[in-house]
Amino acid sequence: MTTDRIVRTFVEYFEDRGHRRITGSTLLPPPGDPVLFTTSGMHPLTPYLEGRPHPLGRRLVNVQRCLRTTDLDEVGDRTHLTVFEMLGSWSLGDYEGPQSLDWGYGLLTEGFGIDPGRLHVTVFGGDDRTGPDTGSLDLWQQRGLPVELTVEDNWWSNGPTGPCGPDSEIFLWTGDTPPESTPTRDGRWVEIWNHVMMRHRRLDDGSLVPLPQRNVDTGLGLERLASLLQGGRSVFECDVFDPWRRLLPPLWPLDEPSLRLVCDHLRSAVVVIGDGVRPSNTGRGYVLRRLVRRVLTVLRRDDPSRGLGDLPGELVRHTLDRFRQDVDPELVRQVLLEEERGFVRLLERGRQVLSRPRFRGPLGEEDFRYLHDTHGLPRDLVRGLRLE
Ligand code: SER
Repeated sequence: MTTDRIVRTFVEYFEDRGHRRITGSTLLPPPGDPVLFTTSGMHPLTPYLEGRPHPLGRRLVNVQRCLRTTDLDEVGDRTHLTVFEMLGSWSLGDYEGPQSLDWGYGLLTEGFGIDPGRLHVTVFGGDDRTGPDTGSLDLWQQRGLPVELTVEDNWWSNGPTGPCGPDSEIFLWTGDTPPESTPTRDGRWVEIWNHVMMRHRRLDDGSLVPLPQRNVDTGLGLERLASLLQGGRSVFECDVFDPWRRLLPPLWPLDEPSLRLVCDHLRSAVVVIGDGVRPSNTGRGYVLRRLVRRVLTVLRRDDPSRGLGDLPGELVRHTLDRFRQDVDPELVRQVLLEEERGFVRLLERGRQVLSRPRFRGPLGEEDFRYLHDTHGLPRDLVRGLRLE
């Protein structure tokens, strides 16, 4: 099942159940949101989850691009990407959690053909402030799925303050053996869909107050589900990465972990630039800068003549199209090339500074701080230069 077909199947399934499709927004969250980037489909909907009537009604569905810096160090494993698309459905004070889970179960098993024997779910087990999520528990027991109760792992929040609530996560077994153990104990259970019963708001002092309405917010990572349905061993083996896997290895022969990192970070950088962010030393621009520098560090490690001037234009175009960004690919290329030039100048300066006698021996914390604060040389870069 192609990624496009997964999107169509998901959206039509919810449209058949009275949901209206809304257009996903950019990676830049609305003003006042506590995070740098849109990390899930609920961000652009925050005012409506908090009670403002949505012009399209109480049942919504969409595809939203997201960026998660929390996952940056996990990129390269089987399941994480920096920028990804999330399919989402919402009940804005309309139906309740068990209805959402029941539809979710129907879509996974009938719409996507997943064997229910390969599913496991987790449910909020309750803490001193909020009781267990018995509605979800009862629904899953009726459907005959194994349930694991957790506390922290089944409480979803968007940031330190704002809408939050207990969630129920659906996991798919990816092992070669029959399913065993539970999601928190065995990494072969991969989370595919999260349903959040978004009923609370956390205030600055940490306390919880009820939202004006009881919402449900669900999110399903598109590339992750696509790779699982397409039999890929990792999220990098779904159809959206086909052009990357075809064009990059002949150009830059890399081992698999490096290839994954380069594909993820370059694709993410293109989308971030496409949404209007430019490299800088703070905030969103710094996230972009780190993505590009990590790519360059990996590429140049084996061969310093490698550079982004060789990046096939087709990959930039394919990515902008995929994310429906109406931006000139040449402009994206120019931003990447300018950032590369700055980085190469920084490397040259780094080499000069590190050749001083003071830096010949092992480097301590104070050296790293001095190199960073006085010469703008990040620790990773210094480490890389010392290995040359
Ligand atoms: N907000 C939830 C998540 O990101 C569900 O969309 O997992």
